[in-house]
Amino acid sequence: MLSYRHAFHAGNVADILKHLVLVNTLHYATRKDAPLFYLDTHAGAGCYALNGDMARKTGEAAAGILALDFTALTKGLAPESADALNRYQQAVTPFLAGQLYPGSPLLAASVLRQQDHLHLCELHPADFAILQSNTGPDRRITCEQTDGYQRAPALLPPVQKRAVVLIDPSYERDDDYRLVVKLAAEIHRRMASAQVLLWYPVVRRHAVEYMITSLVHKQPRDLWRFELDIRPDTDGQGMTGSGMLVINPPWTLPGQLERCLPRLQLQLQETDGYWRVERLTGE
Ligand SMILES: C[S@@+](CC[C@H](N)C(=O)[O-])C[C@H]1O[C@@H](n2cnc3c(N)ncnc32)[C@H](O)[C@@H]1O
Repeated sequence: MLSYRHAFHAGNVADILKHLVLVNTLHYATRKDAPLFYLDTHAGAGCYALNGDMARKTGEAAAGILALDFTALTKGLAPESADALNRYQQAVTPFLAGQLYPGSPLLAASVLRQQDHLHLCELHPADFAILQSNTGPDRRITCEQTDGYQRAPALLPPVQKRAVVLIDPSYERDDDYRLVVKLAAEIHRRMASAQVLLWYPVVRRHAVEYMITSLVHKQPRDLWRFELDIRPDTDGQGMTGSGMLVINPPWTLPGQLERCLPRLQLQLQETDGYWRVERLTGE
C-alpha cells in the first residue's frame, strides 16, 4: 500500500541537491550528439503546485527552493560551480513563475534533446495519472505504471547505448534500503558505463551507512557520495539531510559540488548542518 505523495515535499532541501545533480549530469551527457536514454525508476507526478494544500501543509518548499538566494549563492564562486547552480536555477525558474516545482521527469525533459528518450516508472495510481497528463504530448517520453525495481533491469542496456538512471524511491518500506543497492548493482553489472544517481534520506544514520557499505561491497567503479545535511544526525526523529550516491558522475561534478554545497548548507541549514563530497570507489 503506497501512501507517500511527493507533492508534500516537492522543492524541499532534498530536491535541491537531487535535482542539482540530475540537471548537471544530464547537461554534461548531452554534450555528445549521440542519443541518450534516461530512466527514472520512481518518477513521481512530474510537477507540483507550490500553492496547493499538500505543499502548504508541510512548508518544505518555503524552507527549500523558495528560500534560496541564487545571487548570493553564486557571487564570487568559481565559474564552473556558478554555472552548475545557474543551470539548476534556469531549469526551475519557469515553473516557479507559475507557483510550480518541476519533478525529475520535467526537469530531465527540459535538458534532454529530440534524439533522447525518457522512460518513467511510477507505481502510485493517482501520481501516475498526473504524470501522464504532465508529460502527455511529449513523444520522447514513455510512462509506465509499474514497479521500478522490477522493471528497470529489463530496460538496460538500451538501444541508445548511453544511459542515465535516477533511483529515487520514497523509502516508505524498510526494504527500500536493500532494494536500491540490489538495483544499482544490477544496473552496473548490465551496463558498466551507465550513470546511476541514487537518492537517500538521512533519517537513521546507521541505516544509511549500512546501505552505502553494502553498495561499496558490490564494487561498482567510480562511486561517489554527495550529501547535504541541515541538522546534526538524530536517531529516527525525521529527516536531517539527504544524499546522492552516484556511479560514473561527470568528472566535473565533484569539484563543482565541493564549492556549491558549503554555500547551500549556509543558506538552508537550520542548525549545525554539514556536507560531504567523497569518493567511495576508484575508476
Ligand atoms: C521521492 S518520489 C519521486 C520523486 C521524483 N523522482 C522527483 O525527483 O521529482 C518517489 C515516488 O516513487 C513512487 N513509488 C514507490 N514505490 C515504487 C515502486 N516500487 N516503483 C515505482 N514507483 C514507486 C511513489 O509513489 C513516489 O511517487
